[in-house]
Amino acid sequence: MLELAQASSKASLATQAEQAPALATLRLITCGSVDDGKSTLIGRLLFEQSLILDDQLAALERDSRRHGTDGENIDFALLVDGLEAEREQGITIDVAYRYVSTKRRSFIIADTPGHEQYTRNMATAASSADLAILLVDARKGLLTQTCRHAAIVSMLGIRHVVLAVNKIDLTGFDAEGFAKIVADFRAFAEPLGFKTLVPIPISARHGDNVSQRSANTPWHRGPVLLEHLESIEVAEDNSGQPFRFAVQWVNRPHLDFRGFSGEISSGSVRPGDEIVAAGSGRASRVARIVTADGDLPIAEAGDAVTLTLADELDIARGDVLCDPKHRPEVSDQFSANLIWMSDDKLLPGRSYLMKAGARTVPVTVTELKHRIDVNTLGELPARTLSLNEVGLCNLATTTPIAFDPYKANRSTGAFILIDRATNATAAAGLILHGLRRATNIHRQGLNIAKIDRARLKNQKAAALWFTGLSGSGKSTIANLVESRLYGRGVHTVLLDGDNVRHGLNKDLGFTEVDRVENIRRVGEVTKLMTEAGLIALCAFISPFRAERRLVRELLDEGEFIEIFVDAPIEDCIARDPKGLYKKAIAGEIKNFTGIDQSYEPPQDPELIVGRDGQTAEQAAAKIIALLVERGFIDKIDDLGDDWSI
Ligand code: ADX
Repeated sequence: MLELAQASSKASLATQAEQAPALATLRLITCGSVDDGKSTLIGRLLFEQSLILDDQLAALERDSRRHGTDGENIDFALLVDGLEAEREQGITIDVAYRYVSTKRRSFIIADTPGHEQYTRNMATAASSADLAILLVDARKGLLTQTCRHAAIVSMLGIRHVVLAVNKIDLTGFDAEGFAKIVADFRAFAEPLGFKTLVPIPISARHGDNVSQRSANTPWHRGPVLLEHLESIEVAEDNSGQPFRFAVQWVNRPHLDFRGFSGEISSGSVRPGDEIVAAGSGRASRVARIVTADGDLPIAEAGDAVTLTLADELDIARGDVLCDPKHRPEVSDQFSANLIWMSDDKLLPGRSYLMKAGARTVPVTVTELKHRIDVNTLGELPARTLSLNEVGLCNLATTTPIAFDPYKANRSTGAFILIDRATNATAAAGLILHGLRRATNIHRQGLNIAKIDRARLKNQKAAALWFTGLSGSGKSTIANLVESRLYGRGVHTVLLDGDNVRHGLNKDLGFTEVDRVENIRRVGEVTKLMTEAGLIALCAFISPFRAERRLVRELLDEGEFIEIFVDAPIEDCIARDPKGLYKKAIAGEIKNFTGIDQSYEPPQDPELIVGRDGQTAEQAAAKIIALLVERGFIDKIDDLGDDWSI
């Protein structure tokens, strides 16, 4: 059924192409459920615009008699409902696009499921749409679902909305009922800042006010749906905005040519225009706009081109070239709304990748301010975001990036977050603004460097990171190693999970979110300790790879020595030094590593100890040997460094 609708609309695009539509293609999204008549409305539009081929119509009539819900009449929903059925079986949850063209205009209609669990699909579709049709069932009045749809499309930058009050025939074309729905919706949508909000009473099944004005609603003074869609002006958009160009690659085929290739995200550019590189602030002029088909006198939003500049500027992939008079913000901290799209929840403090324009940089959510109840626009306290939830966050990148607020620019204000372990898209982000406080803090240069502090102690700084299950022996081994190092005059510090959780981290528990924050803070402390030239011994379960990697990346190359204390869980349970496993197994302690929360073993640790009945002493000797071998401490023969274990 779906293929049928799409095939017919493509065919009509071809036949009508010569009648060049007057206005730019309108991208629209329909929001509502099958029950609201969404499929019927789209089917009706296709039918009334003769976008269904004759043989398909015959098949539709046959199917309608057999399966339809509308007696002898054609059930237009059958045209498009195949999609909904597929979704219900969980086969596809992607966005379906229909390409439709009338004499006056071309349309791209994005169709997404309306239920809350499909928020991410709706967000994807809405991010490129100009207008949203929100469907309401006239008999039911304004429901939460429509408010949710309105909130999402507004957040995604849609400025034009049609409130299609469907099944108006079933209310006896009741003008008052319609007015009440419109008033309720206006009250809700007030803060959402839509530019146009056009309510239309329709009957998708019978065709009232879809493409023909209905005699049944003499009280309706507004436009009918198609008339409105064919005439609405949405073109104030991208090319009127300041020039932004994300450099995708530096094109240097030979020494005499150096061009910057990418796509114009907004605005337009001509040879001779002044530009600056947003990050460095260095300025030049556009010399040529080069394409495969020759040079252009002007290029606009959406064009993929290569720009050459009058001066040699140091510009790399990911840089943003822009209009010097209207520059984007450049910051490494900003606030944004996140629409969470992954089954794995958001973990503030975890390192994700942020892809914005042509740039991909590590980023962490430094603070989740609140979750947004998209049904009511209310703010809910939250420590994480789950699939399809929306929240306001502060984020920090490792290097500054150039961006605009999403409200001002839908391409340079949007980004996605990528899970570093799975490479899957974790969230879509819409930037609100940069955080100024970040820009007023600069690094203070220090006279004495880490290497100087370490040299004074006759050692090299390092972090020995012990990871493993509770009761695996991390603290015991770390203690032993520290005693031996102390005996050799090595300067150390020992950070132990239980101890740090009594002080610095006493506000944290054992949920995934808290463990991520625990290790993030400990990582920062470890960095300070190595800055002091110390050998830091850190004994933490640290169950997740992402955070262990985060600490590794915080430190200098070679400083982080990951030691996997790999005692089998049966041994840990048998030992149970604090009686915690007993309680966890009895269900008295929740989120216990290895029992009801996961432990991700290291994939490539510097050392594995504790296997095959290896004692703590043997493990300690191995670690000391590694430190000597890697030159962190001197070899002292008479202390009996045992290289053979
Ligand atoms: S981590 O996972 O965040 O790295 P950390 O090493 O700081 O954990 O703390 C673990 C210690 O807390 C354990 O050795 C144990 O004594 C204690 N503990 C209390 N509750 C739990 C729990 N639910 N899971 C694991 N350890 C717990």
